Amino acid sequence: MSIRTVATQPFSDQKPGTSGLRKKVPVFQQQNYLENFVQSIFDSIAAPKGASLVLGGDGRFYNREAIQIILKMAAANGFSEVLVGRSGILSTPAASCVIRKYKTYGGIILSASHNPGGPKEDFGIKYNSSNGGPATETVTEAIYAKSKTLSSYRILDAADVALDKPGETTLGGMKVKVIDPVSDYAELMESLFDFAAIRALLKGGFKIRFDAMHAVNGPYAKEILVTRLGAPVDSVMNAVPLEDFGGGHPDPNLTYAHDLVEIMYGAEAPDFGAASDGDGDRNMILGKRFFVTPSDSLALLAANATLVTGYRQGLAGIARSMPTSAAVDRVAKSLNIRCFETPTGWKFFGNLMDAGKVTLCGEESFGTGSSHVREKDGLWAVLFWLNIVAVRKQSVETIVREHWAKFGRNFYSRYDYEGLPTDAANSVMQHLHESFAALPGKAFGKYTVKTCDDFSYIDPVDGSLSKGQGVRILFSDGSRIIFRLSGTGTEGATLRMYLEAFEADASRHHQDAQEALKELIQIALRISELQTRTGREQPTVIT
Ligand code: G6P
Ligand code: ZN
Repeated sequence: MSIRTVATQPFSDQKPGTSGLRKKVPVFQQQNYLENFVQSIFDSIAAPKGASLVLGGDGRFYNREAIQIILKMAAANGFSEVLVGRSGILSTPAASCVIRKYKTYGGIILSASHNPGGPKEDFGIKYNSSNGGPATETVTEAIYAKSKTLSSYRILDAADVALDKPGETTLGGMKVKVIDPVSDYAELMESLFDFAAIRALLKGGFKIRFDAMHAVNGPYAKEILVTRLGAPVDSVMNAVPLEDFGGGHPDPNLTYAHDLVEIMYGAEAPDFGAASDGDGDRNMILGKRFFVTPSDSLALLAANATLVTGYRQGLAGIARSMPTSAAVDRVAKSLNIRCFETPTGWKFFGNLMDAGKVTLCGEESFGTGSSHVREKDGLWAVLFWLNIVAVRKQSVETIVREHWAKFGRNFYSRYDYEGLPTDAANSVMQHLHESFAALPGKAFGKYTVKTCDDFSYIDPVDGSLSKGQGVRILFSDGSRIIFRLSGTGTEGATLRMYLEAFEADASRHHQDAQEALKELIQIALRISELQTRTGREQPTVIT
């Protein structure tokens, strides 16, 4: 076995987005494309000789090939040990858990999250640091800079490593430890939640349905919900992970998790429904014929946290991304703790958690999590909810309605316009910027614009500045319209429009969100000229 140094040409498009480098599989299959990016990571993270890594992915198409390449490159780049999930599988939160538990130098996660998988679909790779969280922008910028000048990479000439059984092997001078992908994570969940109470709830006839969407969480959900908590086997659907997610779009929302939505809105609806995404970090929560918005879910977890074993001592603080509704802000206020508003992307929460400033965080994009790991965590959110239900012994709908009655309701919706020509999407954003000066003070029906800006954030821990994080139009009654370009798409541009209106009056809380937001939606379309500039009458997805 010898180490080869291979001459290569840099690629100009290896800039990591909101969550790592995501491209179509054929892009990654180009000669040296993956190798270049991996070498750029290794050259940027300054790992000392003998450092260890975690490696795993969501099992999508190209996962196995990529794992073998990365192992051989890690061996050639001086790592002493790589912990790899059996068959190359680790959900994103499980990878974060393993990095933290075994104190490795960092980890590489292979996933394009909620984007479809398959030979012509998406693949992705990202680096997580020793805290278990996505690398900070400083690191991802360094990786990108390196990728633009790279002239060679190092790889070990060796046969593929057998990954289908736990155990230890060596690759050149490096140890490869194949670990069970589920057990460390399941153990962490048992330490945070009252499994006995949840077991009793399920035994008492509370029916649940979890849709793994043929993605990575199937085995995790089976082990935790069925084996450890005693839910009937059919409580987990689409449980077998597939390289193409069964042709589906593994994004847990009302549009893409349609199998589950049909069941949860059907005549025989179970009491609780949930789904997670391709790599297991997102979640959607449903009650019987009842949808919980991710923003409400975050607020609710915060308000009920002390009912749950791992959070009994209370929360240090809370963080939400800017487009996430302000529902949680009022909970933070009532708990007398701080609520931080960060740009979109889980990586912004890491510093706050490391500094002990926040315990819970969440995003409107179906992500919730806590400082137990440094990624958002789909199954964790499901267990948190089940723990709350087990203690309160009320339905999901009742718990949410009581929450609104106490704190008021933030009607919320997100409109996604996917696959737009980049020029059209940019023109909407530019037009909005140009409107900044004229909007403040202007009245639109019952809404008056208070301010508008492009959101920027100074990290309170390391002082770094992130600019251009989305256009905000803030109204005097606290309502908000936000426009943002997605940082995770791989085709054209995706424009997101976020709408939020606060309603204190409980007699109006029963309204449908689309109905309650009708006027605001029209105002947003009018101000942005979105329909004429993009030629799109309707969004692709409404959540
Ligand atoms: C990923 C990140 C999330 C982020 C989301 C935003 O899922 O992990 O933290 O909220 O992307 O995606 P977008 O497409 O809106 O940039
Ligand atoms: Zn994900």
